[in-house]
Amino acid sequence: MSYPNYKPGLEGVIAAITKISYLDTEKEQIIVRGYDLIELIEKTSYIKVAYLLLYNRLPSDEQAKEFEKSLMAEAEIPDSMYQLFSLMPKTTQAMDALRTGISFLAGYEDPDFLMDTSTKANEAKALKILAKAPTIAVNSYRALKGMPFVRPNRELGYAENFIYMIKGEKPTATEVDTLDKILTAYIEHEMPNSTFAVRVVASTLSDIYGAITSAVASLKGPLHGGANEAAMKMFLEVLSLGGVKIAEKYILEKLARKDKIMGFGHRVYMKKYDPRAYLLKDYIPKLAHLRPEGAELAQIYEIIAKVMEREKGIFPNADYPIALLYYLIHIPIDLYTPIFLCSRIAGLAAHHIEQHENNRLFRPRVIYEGERDLHP
Ligand SMILES: CC(C)(COP(=O)(O)OP(=O)(O)OC[C@H]1O[C@@H](n2cnc3c(N)ncnc32)[C@H](O)[C@@H]1OP(=O)(O)O)[C@@H](O)C(=O)NCCC(=O)NCCS
Repeated sequence: MSYPNYKPGLEGVIAAITKISYLDTEKEQIIVRGYDLIELIEKTSYIKVAYLLLYNRLPSDEQAKEFEKSLMAEAEIPDSMYQLFSLMPKTTQAMDALRTGISFLAGYEDPDFLMDTSTKANEAKALKILAKAPTIAVNSYRALKGMPFVRPNRELGYAENFIYMIKGEKPTATEVDTLDKILTAYIEHEMPNSTFAVRVVASTLSDIYGAITSAVASLKGPLHGGANEAAMKMFLEVLSLGGVKIAEKYILEKLARKDKIMGFGHRVYMKKYDPRAYLLKDYIPKLAHLRPEGAELAQIYEIIAKVMEREKGIFPNADYPIALLYYLIHIPIDLYTPIFLCSRIAGLAAHHIEQHENNRLFRPRVIYEGERDLHP
């Protein structure tokens, strides 16, 4: 039976009127508050675009510095959270630890302030979550791996401190610049599943901690944010099975089995290029020297992309180059998706705020195909 009003996966359905962002597939542009995201990645920084998303204007260098300082002043988390991380079963996945941590943070808010849906209150809570999320993501991961905690260093910049906590030592300028570009590329992307989750939860007038917790669960899935980790595992599998020599055969076999190739395809772009992937792929050859196997991975990258274009007419999404960029700057694979989530908090918070500024409860209907008139 087909139903004209039913769109599986809500494909093409308009869920919100927004001034935050839009994927203009005709112009191959990602518009963020009027700017082209690609230009923002090239010419600004994560901090500037996060400010743009939260406060609806691009900051001056001075304002950006102040904003970064206020984030770093809020980066530390309560001691009880470090204890919480130590208590988590070692089998906990990094995204689940991050989800638990963000949810736990809500308990430190004054209950009235927690439920305050005003823009001012939401912005203040958003700033705290944005500031603390990297500390939660990295230190919960460290606890799960039995590694010592590395507390945030407020003297460092946002991206610099993020890698510092991951590695336990001051990062190089190349590592900081690469992470900053990744964070900016991931920051906002219209209405993916996790943003929709935030909007749905926000529409009940629930709080931003709960809304972002729901987004962490959504983003974890391999059809969404988890694709970056899955793509990297695929690169490493190709490498272990013979590298460049077998890359084409490997993908053809996967396609013959009707497997999805991670890091390819997109509900909105599908047969077009994701502009972020187009920009970021150019950084791969430049950073390939950072790993002995970097040059071969860069070749495998090209081979797989060519086979996918030829066989399916499907192009890489941002997760495909980003997986390799993370790897080249030595980020542990388990942190790929948590870092994505940390970046996206700026966009998610903007949607939470906008939903509360013009709210109507999400409450769709169904087509019922079950039985009727049964009696117990
Ligand atoms: C993102 C994604 C879930 C979008 O899915 P969707 O809009 O529901 O599209 P469908 O899964 O219905 O795919 C439509 C067609 O494209 C094919 N396709 C889509 N993505 C594909 C991929 N990554 N690998 C192989 N084939 C793919 C499907 O097999 C299907 O082909 P068919 O019509 O011949 O059966 C899908 O592209 C995917 O699973 N990609 C891999 C995961 C990923 O990288 N996610 C991150 C997205 S930013």
